[in-house]
Amino acid sequence: MSHISYVNGRYLPHAAASVHIEDRGFQFADGVYEVICFWKGKPIDYKPHIERLQRSLSELQIREPFSMKALTVVVREVVARNRLTTGHIYMQVNRGVASRAHYFPKASVKPSVIVVTKPVAGPSEAMAEKGAKVVTTPDIRWERVDIKSVSLLPNCLAKELSHKAGAYETFLTLPDGTVTEASASNAWMVTPDKTIVTHPADGSILSGITRSTILKLARGAGYKVEERPFTLTEAFAAKEVFVSGTTTFVMPIVQVDDRVIANGAPGTVALDLRARYRAYVDGVDAATAWDI
Ligand code: PDD
Repeated sequence: MSHISYVNGRYLPHAAASVHIEDRGFQFADGVYEVICFWKGKPIDYKPHIERLQRSLSELQIREPFSMKALTVVVREVVARNRLTTGHIYMQVNRGVASRAHYFPKASVKPSVIVVTKPVAGPSEAMAEKGAKVVTTPDIRWERVDIKSVSLLPNCLAKELSHKAGAYETFLTLPDGTVTEASASNAWMVTPDKTIVTHPADGSILSGITRSTILKLARGAGYKVEERPFTLTEAFAAKEVFVSGTTTFVMPIVQVDDRVIANGAPGTVALDLRARYRAYVDGVDAATAWDI
């Protein structure tokens, strides 16, 4: 069966699905995106992903190409044409095709829309059982990381460091040692007194959809949770460290740079939250999963 992707009104064989050389996503990274987990025939947290897409578009003054209901029809069509059962959905909306100039094109220029599916379920059980490593690098991103912009070069540079080092992720750190988040996931730790800590969604991280769901699950399970900045020094001394994201679920971290966390085994809190998150995605109701 061929892989079909959507580009600007057309469903095309993936290999032939391309954008114009004057597309502003290509020339200026002038666009936004979402990655949504598709699990056993259902999108996970579809509504909050669509709401975040709308917010990102609004913050960058990119108009919505069509209604979010119409976008959902397109997404469902791409899912159906690829007979996707488990994997993820990538969608990008950018400011469209116009003769290259930094200022915005005229209002009649239609935003570009692409939708791509991948039959890859991100989280690796084997890795979660052993625990993963992270490396660290300065957070050199711009001040609007709250927007899910396709301008991801600093994230790519950071991810390449972990990739090269055989680690799973790269923590991004501020000059005072604060860990903001990771290159493509949110960062968490568990203090020696068993408080779960993650950076507040105050504009200096991407407010992860998985992060929000895990906060709810953790609070619902009676854990003490604090949304506050934490430093690398605190992470080194933590009982547990983990990361969360659409393609990660919850991944226990057992080593940060050359420092082994606690006894070097995945922590009980991270494993419990991973199991709770897994139960949550398994339990998403197919009848309402696409509601927005
Ligand atoms: N990345 N922080 C950053 C910088 C991210 O890029 C992501 C997601 C997250 C986690 O957000 P969420 O839980 O909504 O996936 C945090 C996606 C998966 C990506 O770029 O592929």
